[in-house]
Amino acid sequence: MQRVTLPEVGTFDAWREAARGALAADMPPEEIVWQRGQSGADLFGEEAPVPPAPEGARFTVPKSFLQTVRLALWHRDPERFARAYAMLWALQAQPRLFEDRGDARVAKLNALAKEVGRDKHKMTAFVRFRDIGASGDARRRFAAWFEPSHYIMEPTAPFFAKRFGDMDWTIVTPDLTAQFEAGKLSFAPGQAKPPLPEDATEELWGTYFRNIFNPARVKLKAMQAEMPKKYWKNMPEAAHIPGMIAGARARAAEMQAAAPSLPPLRAERITARFAETRAEMPGEGKMAEALAGCRRCPLWENATQAVPGEGPLDAQLMFVGEQPGDREDLEGRPFVGPAGQVFDRVLQEVGIARDEVYVTNAVKHFKFRPQGKRRLHQAPNNHEIDHCRWWLDLERERVRPKLTVALGASALRGLTGNGTGLLKRRGKLEMAGEQAVFVTVHPSYLLRLRDPQQRADEEAAFRADLAEVARLVAA
Ligand code: URA
Repeated sequence: MQRVTLPEVGTFDAWREAARGALAADMPPEEIVWQRGQSGADLFGEEAPVPPAPEGARFTVPKSFLQTVRLALWHRDPERFARAYAMLWALQAQPRLFEDRGDARVAKLNALAKEVGRDKHKMTAFVRFRDIGASGDARRRFAAWFEPSHYIMEPTAPFFAKRFGDMDWTIVTPDLTAQFEAGKLSFAPGQAKPPLPEDATEELWGTYFRNIFNPARVKLKAMQAEMPKKYWKNMPEAAHIPGMIAGARARAAEMQAAAPSLPPLRAERITARFAETRAEMPGEGKMAEALAGCRRCPLWENATQAVPGEGPLDAQLMFVGEQPGDREDLEGRPFVGPAGQVFDRVLQEVGIARDEVYVTNAVKHFKFRPQGKRRLHQAPNNHEIDHCRWWLDLERERVRPKLTVALGASALRGLTGNGTGLLKRRGKLEMAGEQAVFVTVHPSYLLRLRDPQQRADEEAAFRADLAEVARLVAA
């Protein structure tokens, strides 16, 4: 029996290397015990590295298998490595096996991958950063605590590195800590859940994070040395936490008192960035990139991503909704959730092709209130709509549609500066600058109607509005 221990960082690459070596050495799956993180001999076999596959050795596997394994290997299922290797082994004799969704081994690997995918998604949506920066910091600093269901910190870290590339951040999970400093991503051991109450003040969190993530204290190298998770709880750092916390409030207060009043560092940087992006506009692709870094209002903080408009830049027709919903926030595309389905259906009924129109929102970040595991939509306020008009105006300038449709009051405010009296203005044309705007309701209004008859009537009225829109554009 051969035992293969995979490191806690770089697990996927190490598995792939070892699996290629084992395959080249003709080692059947039942002769390998796979594990992660803890080396040394045990009851199940001797530890000896698998010799690498000879240079030039080629094993052909379907792309779908690799895609699945890339996710499945981060699952907590203790058999995941063995399952993946057994499938790799079986694929050598049956190259099309992975297409057989009815095969229990294929189905299991796919199910693991799906669960990991969902967990990653949740992490990107629900990590909440706390500002732990101090006034003298050259870069903004944030930290977050998160408990994923699977070992997803490593494969999800690049998402955060890309999204928050302009700041330093740390995400701590019980398994692994990801740190992003000055544009460089590194990993350190996981930590136990911080012994802080949920409602601890920002200063307390800040002090806590600053102390436990002082690079001098965290043994980065230890991670590579496969530190067994069971010892993490007893790390000296952890033992000091209660003491650090006890004095944290006072230290934070001292720091605050000692610091000069906050320089407008952040504001300056952001203003400078927007000046640059404005100068770059309206280059193709640049807008989405610039929008991703938008900090014009606080909505970016809790949203997964900014959702740009979508559609051809020479579209004759532009639709403007309110803001991305839960689904849109995760997918990064407008109108793909339940309201989007109503919208798509009615568009189709009146003969408007969605891929020929430009679809966007008055506000580009999802605003919500968490309730348990759900994120409940909250309408953007006037201030948020007005701040986001900068982007909407830019889109209108780039597309210059023949007709723009305001879907609901927020869109109407974004377009005309006044969102009041929607029902009185509905079905009519207004001018917003030099561009014509047609006013109608938002498709989610239809979804909120409980009475089936009323809903059918309102949907018919919405259909009539969009039929009129189609007529106006064709005229
Ligand atoms: N509602 C909106 O206004 N826009 C979307 O993209 C989705 C729902």
